[in-house]
Amino acid sequence: MEPLNILTYPDNFLSEPTKPVENIDEKIQNLIKDMASIMYQAPGIGLAAIQVGINKSLLVYDVSPRDEERSLQVLINPRIVESEGTTISEDEGCLSVPDFRANVKRSASVLIEGVDSKEKPLRIEAEGLLAVVLQHEIDHLNGILFIDRISSLKREIYKRRVRKNLKNK
Ligand code: NI
Repeated sequence: MEPLNILTYPDNFLSEPTKPVENIDEKIQNLIKDMASIMYQAPGIGLAAIQVGINKSLLVYDVSPRDEERSLQVLINPRIVESEGTTISEDEGCLSVPDFRANVKRSASVLIEGVDSKEKPLRIEAEGLLAVVLQHEIDHLNGILFIDRISSLKREIYKRRVRKNLKNK
């Protein structure tokens, strides 16, 4: 298999909704390993399979503080079953939207169901940073980028910059 690269906006693939993972087979286990190493190398705190060109409902994340041990989490076929309140995530960023950060309106707390890499059912109650990361990554699985959730004016500023950079390449 070719090495995986992080796709960046305006790659159309990033706006495709993903398909459920049906078998958590060796291919998926290898994908998880590759995604984890890409995420840690970037470095990032979350990565969805679609960001590396795989159209599957799968994400990895690790919100443990930098100076603590790594704690890789895998979430397969996740869905938000409950959400409550609102919060503004400050300076949200994305490996697929380089060199840009913005405040994004998010639910303050979420309840998420899915399975882990061993097909064990997961039920995650999240708030704070974890809630934001999970909402951001689950958005990816639905073809949504955080820039789709900011004001059109701010989004245009970013899009214009990207267009200019592409022209200069
Ligand atoms: Ni992202």
